[in-house]
Amino acid sequence: MLKIIIATNNQHKVEELNAMLEGKVELLSLKDAGISVDPDENGKTYAENAFIKAQAVTKFTNLPVMSDDSGIEIDELGEHFPGIYSHRFAVENGGQEKLNKILVSKHPNSKARFTCHIVLLNLNFEGERLDFEGIMEGKINTKIEGINGFGYDPVFVPEGYNHSVATLKPEEKNVISHRYNAVKKLLNYLFENNKI
Ligand code: IMP
Repeated sequence: MLKIIIATNNQHKVEELNAMLEGKVELLSLKDAGISVDPDENGKTYAENAFIKAQAVTKFTNLPVMSDDSGIEIDELGEHFPGIYSHRFAVENGGQEKLNKILVSKHPNSKARFTCHIVLLNLNFEGERLDFEGIMEGKINTKIEGINGFGYDPVFVPEGYNHSVATLKPEEKNVISHRYNAVKKLLNYLFENNKI
């Protein structure tokens, strides 16, 4: 089976990605691979940050390496904001829970979207780079809702839904999410190129 190292220390992401890859790829976390890196994510876009993370890991392995960078964009906060700063924005606002409360009180119903950008390096040859991007459109909720998922899930209502992502079961989130939409493109590529 195709083995890919995933350049993240975020266990939530590893679990979500593993569920989406449906046993077609053996995903090794940095911990599984015994690799310890924490590169400076100083890119200006999701793509740049995903590349920085993946490239840092290629120095320690000959296996293909994938990395994803994701974030939420809340239109009332400005174009593409907080975007690549989604994690930092929560820290600067007193933590995710506190920020989520601020968002539902100050920006209910603002249009918003999650984006996930995946970079896959060294699949077919050393130095090769492949990019896949997925989006989930939606809006900010009017209240905090649900206990599943992580991050902004309790305050984000996907288009066509009446409740937050955090009210969905993992298997429900994992067929509509930005991460899934990116992974679907990755899986299609792997299938079409006889890798899985
Ligand atoms: P990163 O890709 O680890 O840099 O993720 C950036 C931040 O975006 C995370 O810390 C979360 O706050 C947010 N985020 C990304 N994906 C999701 C998701 O699926 N649900 C909720 N928050 C997310």
